[in-house]
Parts: sequence; C-alpha cells; structure tokens
Amino acid sequence: MTFDEMRLQHEAFTESVLQKLKKKMPIALKKAQGLDFIPYTVRDGAWQPGPVDGLCWWTNGFWPGEMWEMYRLTGEEAYRAEAERAEAMLDSAFREFDHLHHDVGFMWLLSSGANFRMTGNDVSRKRTLLAAHLLSGRFNPLGFIRAWNGDNVGWAIIDCMMNLNLLYWASDLTGDPRFRKVAMTHANTAMQYFIRENGSSNHIVVFDPDTMEVKDIPAGQGYASGSSWSRGQSWALYGFTLSYLHTKKQEYLDTAKKVARYFISQVQDDWIPRCDFCQPKEDDLRDACAGAIAACGLLELSKLCQDGEARFFFDAGMNILQALNSRSADWSADYPAILTHCTASYHGNDHNIAMNYADFFFIEAILKLNGDTFLFW
Ligand code: GLY
Repeated sequence: MTFDEMRLQHEAFTESVLQKLKKKMPIALKKAQGLDFIPYTVRDGAWQPGPVDGLCWWTNGFWPGEMWEMYRLTGEEAYRAEAERAEAMLDSAFREFDHLHHDVGFMWLLSSGANFRMTGNDVSRKRTLLAAHLLSGRFNPLGFIRAWNGDNVGWAIIDCMMNLNLLYWASDLTGDPRFRKVAMTHANTAMQYFIRENGSSNHIVVFDPDTMEVKDIPAGQGYASGSSWSRGQSWALYGFTLSYLHTKKQEYLDTAKKVARYFISQVQDDWIPRCDFCQPKEDDLRDACAGAIAACGLLELSKLCQDGEARFFFDAGMNILQALNSRSADWSADYPAILTHCTASYHGNDHNIAMNYADFFFIEAILKLNGDTFLFW
C-alpha cells in the first residue's frame, strides 16, 4: 500500500481532529494576540512565555510555525498575521545574540523560513539565511556543532539533528555546499557517538573541543547517563529521517530505521512515551511531546519504505497519534494549548505541562495525514 492509501484508511480520524483544531486554534490565537511574548506553555488558562532567555528562548519559532500550519489548513489571514507578528518580534533575539544557541534552526526555519518558502517574502529569506550563518558559526571543525553557551564549549546534543535542516535549506537556496557539509559532518558525528547498538541515543556528548576526545556523557534532560530520554530518541528518529531526505545518504535512513524500531519497542504497550525509557518502572512520568515528534518521523519514514516495513512505521505513528488525541489532548475551549502530559526534563519541575512544540508536531502529523506534503523541515 502507498502512504496515501494507508492515510485514507484513517480519513475519519483525521477529519475529526481537523474539526477540533479548527475550533481550538482560534481560541489559542485570540489569547496570544497583543502579548509581548511568544506563547510557550499555559498557566491558569493563559499563555506563558518560556522560562528564561526572553525572545531567545529556544522554542519561539514553534508558535509562528503553528500559525503557518493553520494558515495552510484554513487559508485564514489571521493566522498569517500572527505568524508574521511573532517573526518580527524575533528580530530582537538577533540583536540580543548572547543568548542564542544552536536552536536558531528551530527558531527561524519555522518562522521566517516557513514564511519565505510559502510567500516568497524577501525579508524572511534574509532572516533565515542570517540564522543559518549563526548556526554554521557554531561548528567546531573537528566535527560537531556546539549546542549551548557559557562553559559548554564541547557540548553537542542529539536535538541538533533537527536544526541541521536549516543548513540543508541554506545550501539548497544559495548553491553553496558549505552549510550542507557542516550539517553532514555533524550528522556523521551523531551517528558515531550518540546512537547506540540497540538504536537508542545519548542526549549529550561532551567532547574535548581541542581533540574531540569524549569527556563525558551526562544524563541531560533524561533519567541518567546511559539512559534513553524519550524526546532525545524522537529527535534522533525524525532528525535522521530528514537528513536522509535532504542528502539521500543511505546510512542516515538505516540509522533512522534503527532508532524507530527501538522507539516503537519502548512505546508499544500504550503509545504515550514515558519521559525516559530507562526510568524506574514504578515511575509513570510521560512526555506526550516525544510522541508527537516521533509520530511525524514515523509517518515520513513510512513514505521511504515498502510493504510491511512501511505499514509497520505508519501504524506505529497512527497508534501514537490516536493515543495522544484520546488521552493527552485537551480540546476544551478555556485551555489554549492542545497536548498536556509534556515533560521538559526528567529531573526538572515542569512535568505534565503544555509545550508549544508538542502542539506544532501534533498538528504537523495531522497535516501529513490530511495529505499536505509541505515539509517545514
Ligand atoms: N532540549 C530541547 C528539548 O527540550 O527537547
């Protein structure tokens, strides 16, 4: 069966979620209009900004990304206007600079990048290219993109696999291969140092920035060093799938499949990921966001496979989306976000919260089921 044939078997599910999105998102939008920050989470029914870094907070591209998703779905100008308002707000993050990090990929590919690719807006093109230059400026020529600032000079993190898409885009646009070479060098490093034999992934690898000797493999946002933080697994799953799509390098596809098989083996009991696949059995902490990201990756991966393998990945993605819809989504009118049960990090305080990127990926997956082939990445 083709991807289209499989997705059409679930038309009724897709249609019911689309109807709920069309009711929910005008509420989300109304509660955001006029705010002097970009929505990240919800408290007492109201949008809240990211906890640190002001407009440089790493998830600030996902809100305009959600607005572009809804614009694609409905064609309503109000979504486009809000996406453009948030994109313009992000200009102050460029000026702030000190707090910017490798997540400039998330921040600008989904805001100005989406704008340029959908409307041809030239100011948006320049913003996105500037972000690509900032990201490639974080490249350590020994073989990795530096994730964070401060003393974390040799730190690389699996999440960065998703930021590489900004670099692939920049090479495609400009014809300059440097960006793609940086991205592929980092992806090769991630395959070698992050992905384990069983398909699981480290969150962080700390390299000596002068020699690339591995100095440490901290727990990061997961349970412990050597454990499997579920969102890190989903970044790897979708990230390697996308690196394959942009480069056609077979090893990336093989890696994506290996990570996907491991991910599925860990969620197939009830399809909403635990925060860390290695957390104690009695601990039921979940991360719906990891599920939404993985679902997008699994759907894209199924398009790249044949027969039983395509079905296996597609069904896993569907199972996750159905579980999120029935057990993690809040479709009520007084709550502006969609997915609850998201966890920022295992040892942090933000457990069972809404997070704007969870909603972005959930909507992205539903758009795929609806037959939209536009890839924000
Ligand atoms: N570090 C990015 C995330 O929380 O997934």
